Amino acid sequence: MSFAVTIDGPAAAGKSTTARGVASRLGFLYVDTGALYRAIALKVQQGGIPPDDRDAVERLARETQVALSGAPDHPRVWLDGAEVSDEIRTPAVSELSSRLAAQPAVRRRLIEIQRALRDRGPLVAEGRDLGTVVFPDAEIKVYLDADLDTRARRRFRERERLGLPMTLDEVRDELERRDARDRGRSESPLAVPEGARVLDTSGMTVADQIEAVLAVVASHPAFPAGPGCPGGRADDPVRERSEGGAGD
Ligand code: DC
Repeated sequence: MSFAVTIDGPAAAGKSTTARGVASRLGFLYVDTGALYRAIALKVQQGGIPPDDRDAVERLARETQVALSGAPDHPRVWLDGAEVSDEIRTPAVSELSSRLAAQPAVRRRLIEIQRALRDRGPLVAEGRDLGTVVFPDAEIKVYLDADLDTRARRRFRERERLGLPMTLDEVRDELERRDARDRGRSESPLAVPEGARVLDTSGMTVADQIEAVLAVVASHPAFPAGPGCPGGRADDPVRERSEGGAGD
């Protein structure tokens, strides 16, 4: 079983940027599990399927192929063989993915896909239930959080860059609504995993966040992990392993 780093937390807490930076520095696979929920949501949206029709959603989830590829600095998301990396980032897909993520059948299908990725080598996986449900035996568990205003500002700027303008208030409302749903659902709710290192990123830069997680990883006795881990432990294990991406 490969060395696993899990990063959980609410929306826009800095999970993706941090996980990508850490995966890139370590040469680990980067796994964006939210992208899988988003890809299913995109298909439900495109098919005009009512999200509350659990049987139809279950059928769709079972029949759908979703996959992740690419290095951490250029991750790509695939839905039934077509790339959907950009289409899954709209506010409507964000909302729908959170609604569908409460359905046990959707989670079952996607957890199966996520667990299979562990056989591909050491990884950094981010989402809502990585340390609690998907990889409860992960070597390193991190929970990233930040106050709502900080998270709203971050997501607002990101949406601007993507050409998806919304007001700051709308973004804040969206995050609040999604967080409440992601925390309150009965199936794998967002929660701090037992044994997780909790980091509040409100006042932190991206570089600080990445360094903080790398320091936790480097202090683990099993780091570096077994086969598939590039480089070896040197005086500065983190620096030694800073080359290369996760690949496909
Ligand atoms: O991380 P994200 O914002 O891209 O995730 C989109 C939605 O998917 C999120 O609101 C809840 C759901 N999700 C989940 O339930 N479990 C995960 N491991 C990842 C995402």
